[in-house]
Amino acid sequence: MFHRINPQAATLRLHFDGTEIPATEGETVAAALLTAGSASVRDTPVRGTPRAPYCMMGICFDCLVEIDGVPNRQACMTQVRDGMVIARQRGARAPLPPTSA
Ligand code: FES
Repeated sequence: MFHRINPQAATLRLHFDGTEIPATEGETVAAALLTAGSASVRDTPVRGTPRAPYCMMGICFDCLVEIDGVPNRQACMTQVRDGMVIARQRGARAPLPPTSA
């Protein structure tokens, strides 16, 4: 459904649920996942309904994924980094404890 304008620019590699996907420097995790053909990236907490990035601007929270072991990350607000490990978020996750200042 989505295509990269310049496929040669995709020099980074991410891992989504064990599958390697290409990414371009400066794009978001959501853009990389959608371009790679991911139809959904998380399941809702109550009914397990699949969801995919929708608004692409941090409003809907339908793009929540686990990135490098940290849950509840908004894929549309996170830029890619080479070697990122992304996992589908299944259901609700506990919030992270507050960090000390
Ligand atoms: S796609 Fe809506 S918050 Fe990320």
